[in-house]
Amino acid sequence: MTPLIRTPKRRLITSALPYANGPIHVGHMAGAYLPADIYVRYLRSSGEDVLWVCGSDEHGAAITLRAKKDGTTPRDIVDKYHVEMQGAFKGLDISFDHYSRTSSEKHHKVAQDFFLKLLENDSFEVKTQEQYYDEEADQFLADRYITGTCPTCNADGAYGDQCEKCGATLSPTELINPKSTLSGAKPILKPTTLWYLPMGRHEEWLKDYIENGMLDGKVHHDAKAWKSHVVGQCKSWIDGGLQSRAMTRDLKWGVPVPVEGADGKVLYVWLDAPVGYITATMEWAEKNGKDWRDWWQNEDTELLHFIGKDNIVFHCIIFPILLKQHGDFILPHHVPANEFMNLEGDKISTSRNWAVWVSEFLENNPSGSDPMRYVLTSIMPEQRDSEFTWNDYRDRINNELADVLGNFVNRVLVLTRKYYDGIVPMAPKESVLTEVDKSLVDVLSGAGERIGDLISRHRYREAQLEAMNVARRGNKYLTEEEPWKIQKTDPQRVKTIMHLACQVVGNLGIVLEPFLPRTAEKISVSFGVNGLRWNDVSPSLVKNGTVLGDLPILFTKIDEETVETEKAKLGQKEVDSNDSNKNTVMLQKDSTTFDHFSEMDLRVATVTECVAVKKTKKLLKLTVNTGLDVRTVVSGIAEHFSPEDVVGRKVVLLANLEPRTIKGVESWGMVLMASTNDGGLKFVTPEDGVNPGDVIR
Ligand code: MF3
Ligand code: ZN
Repeated sequence: MTPLIRTPKRRLITSALPYANGPIHVGHMAGAYLPADIYVRYLRSSGEDVLWVCGSDEHGAAITLRAKKDGTTPRDIVDKYHVEMQGAFKGLDISFDHYSRTSSEKHHKVAQDFFLKLLENDSFEVKTQEQYYDEEADQFLADRYITGTCPTCNADGAYGDQCEKCGATLSPTELINPKSTLSGAKPILKPTTLWYLPMGRHEEWLKDYIENGMLDGKVHHDAKAWKSHVVGQCKSWIDGGLQSRAMTRDLKWGVPVPVEGADGKVLYVWLDAPVGYITATMEWAEKNGKDWRDWWQNEDTELLHFIGKDNIVFHCIIFPILLKQHGDFILPHHVPANEFMNLEGDKISTSRNWAVWVSEFLENNPSGSDPMRYVLTSIMPEQRDSEFTWNDYRDRINNELADVLGNFVNRVLVLTRKYYDGIVPMAPKESVLTEVDKSLVDVLSGAGERIGDLISRHRYREAQLEAMNVARRGNKYLTEEEPWKIQKTDPQRVKTIMHLACQVVGNLGIVLEPFLPRTAEKISVSFGVNGLRWNDVSPSLVKNGTVLGDLPILFTKIDEETVETEKAKLGQKEVDSNDSNKNTVMLQKDSTTFDHFSEMDLRVATVTECVAVKKTKKLLKLTVNTGLDVRTVVSGIAEHFSPEDVVGRKVVLLANLEPRTIKGVESWGMVLMASTNDGGLKFVTPEDGVNPGDVIR
């Protein structure tokens, strides 16, 4: 039996409020903002009632720790990044209806009222318990203020709320060898009073809600539409037993707990932040003369949260509990969380500057948002982690956007101008259409529905591919029908071809809009379809006799230099060196262990022979004497050294690296090189008196 799901009258969309503690990178965008933007643009174009809110998350340890590191105040940090982040969103044409912030007076009031209602409804257990306290910093230590060894996997550096190595959720007192992240001191235990949310009470209805989409004995949402990784994560939380979680913290920065005698206590950031969605809605409603209650307190509204996977438990378990306990609010109907996007073979890391920063990128690349939007959507981590690389970025822009889409649109425009002074020829009679024409017409007839259906199901990668397939089909049609060859002999046939080609381009102006808003706008204006909507998509969208307007070149190709420059920025940090020249250094990697280091057999070797590896530009084949043996090593240094430069050198060799076959040559180790600031490579040369076989340790 398929449960009856009501069609909603309106949809409220939220995207995770980003912490105002640093700039926005491509991983953020691909996780919670770009997919929501595509979804919302599609809904708007379809004439649906939709509201999309977001804002800066300005409380929590993320902010205060950043302030401490920078030697400034939390207020300065959030003011700075609240502005910075909005710049990044604007740059990528992220079209929120309203962007709020949680440090505002209004939000404090809304969050406090929310808390008081929960209190009234007997939602908490008040407990006085021993908590870790940093005597030097004069502060209780919760969550990220404390680290130690994980009791589950023994990894160092686990936080008071979670171990990032094994994913275990922890409480600070479980950590082995706890240490304050503020002062490094060993904390003492001191009693304090906290308001706990006894989540265990809610296991039963939550299970039904998540697994079956049922709430209060009624069908609430289509549980089968939820992504399996989202349901899986929730199930394993619930099956593991839900622990009580403190909803207050002993901190100075945050929303003060609105209870007498609770001085020095603030609301837990994960209570205050999601309530920020409500505050944002209220602000929007006030500004636009609307009633916010329609969006939060009406059964005909569907609520969707766009987030990254690290936020799943908060949106699928904790926030629903809070909303239900409050009693006046609807619960989330869908949480289309994305997984993570990695970057050039490594996790994105703010502290190591291993990231592509959106504002910075757009500043240096005035081509606008579309190329970056296109690539991020192509590799969106919808069902599993994905990876951004600059080579892939270049290939997608050059081979897909420029060569297919840009080229096709341009050819149609140029030919229409050449043959008909830029006036779209009359639609052909049904009877003259060939099989090929008809199948192109079919592509257009079904395009709106096909693409719309994929977007509705949050399959943005496939949706964009399907939209690009319309361009691909048009491009192929033109290439195969070759109107330029028959214009002299069969001008009537050419009119048919060009009419259909113009229809393809016009429709692209509509179906590409959610993905590539700027390109779609240019096309729409030029082909006279601006202002038309999703439901207008059809083989007769462009009117006979439309005069095509100017259309600038849509995409410029990415050259090697851009790719290399972007790659070189990864992991670098600008520092002021002694001679006051700006310099860049590689930031320190995450810590390793002495054991890992001692596994490596590093030793001195001498290069006895060297030749280029055939049919490659980068590789040299070295013969080295390691003191133990004479062996072959392949090294990617040919662009920096010729074989003569290398023979006779003493080098440092990682001797026990697993042998690998590179371009048909077996390589038994790796020669260590230093990468210089300007992108060069230098040998790491041992001092005189060191001989092959000498060990480095
Ligand atoms: N600031 C959180 C993060 O970046 C997300 C908060 S989402 C909200 O992970 F629901 F709490 F707003
Ligand atoms: Zn662990």
